[in-house]
Amino acid sequence: MKVVSVVGARPQFIKAAVLSPRLREVAQEVLVHTGQHYDPEMSAVFFESLPVPRPDYTLHAGSGSHGAQTGRMLEALDPILQKEAPNWVIVYGDTNSTLAGALAAAKMQIPVAHVESGLRSFNRAMPEEINRVVADHLAARLYCPTQQAVDNLGREGIRQGVVLSGDLMDVLVDRTPDDPGVFSRYPVQPGRYVLATVHRAQTTDDAMSLQSVLGALGQLPYPVLLPLHPRTRQKIAQFGLEGLLARSVIPVPAVGYREMITLERHAWAVVTDSGGVQREACRLGVPTYILREETEWGELVDTGQAVLTGCDPHRIVRAVTEGQARPHSLAGLADPVRLIIDDLLQEEL
Ligand code: UD1
Ligand code: UDP
Repeated sequence: MKVVSVVGARPQFIKAAVLSPRLREVAQEVLVHTGQHYDPEMSAVFFESLPVPRPDYTLHAGSGSHGAQTGRMLEALDPILQKEAPNWVIVYGDTNSTLAGALAAAKMQIPVAHVESGLRSFNRAMPEEINRVVADHLAARLYCPTQQAVDNLGREGIRQGVVLSGDLMDVLVDRTPDDPGVFSRYPVQPGRYVLATVHRAQTTDDAMSLQSVLGALGQLPYPVLLPLHPRTRQKIAQFGLEGLLARSVIPVPAVGYREMITLERHAWAVVTDSGGVQREACRLGVPTYILREETEWGELVDTGQAVLTGCDPHRIVRAVTEGQARPHSLAGLADPVRLIIDDLLQEEL
């Protein structure tokens, strides 16, 4: 079995670090890095510190409008897929790299396997929602992390090829030990800080939203460590919001995966608009506050482990200060990696 896996953004390098090594025990994998993320702290750090294989191809798509970025990826993927002629193309999640991988493969009649399929925020203003819907409707095998994801696909008429696999990320979170140096590198103490990440276009590209969120972070009961996505760093500078980074908000460059998990595990609370971080924090049993009005990980809110706060500063400060989130251990499926690989092999027979 030959597989081309398409990755390009931070969370996809992390997911490939879980699937690729085991996939390579039974199949030939060609890894394509679209180049969507390219700064060392958004890309190289994960290839250096996690068992994600070196890419066979890097497309250098870089940043730009959705159309330009996705178009560059599509154009570069065509000859690679033609040359490699894989049995499967694997795509992860909901980024523009996911969309390009799925679209390029489907147009060449190559079956697509979508990992982290079926998630829905039901908000089409999110570019990620469009990417998910399209990828799911093109995919032949749809690996769903949750039962809600399976149900979402059913409501869209997708029942064939749907597999409840569980979430790959659970595997990695559970086996990632603490980075012992973290608390000497950052000026926070275990259990006595809030970890925040902010990078969604909806939050960062609107000056009012970004201002509200940064202002709220400065009013929380503990210091806030804020690893910055480059997009957020650029927007803070563009909108002149540096003054809102009060002494209690500590911006640092984006961190590596093991550092991040250590920081999540020992945080008093996690405040985030990230899909992956909200899920990980709940898995780790840390109270989680989501800076959005809806989430594609609906179970986390339904069970009270995570609370939606939107970008309204009063709601954020109140929810976090009152400790409205009620963490409890989040069950996962036994071995999502085995389920996915066995299913792909089975389909090949
Ligand atoms: C993308 C995904 C989002 C995911 C996130 C993971 C889409 C539509 N969105 O958002 O779902 O949560 O990745 O982190 O695919 N930039 C740099 N250096 C980099 C990468 C980006 O400076 O290495 C800056 C550029 O100014 C760029 C901006 O960040 O324009 C946004 O990058 P982009 O890849 O378009 O989207 P993300 O916000 O990273
Ligand atoms: N992450 C990281 N360093 C950071 C911020 C996030 O390693 O500074 C990890 C995080 O632990 C999770 C993944 O990146 O595994 C989530 O990616 P991101 O928030 O960029 O995207 P999303 O999940 O929202 O698509």
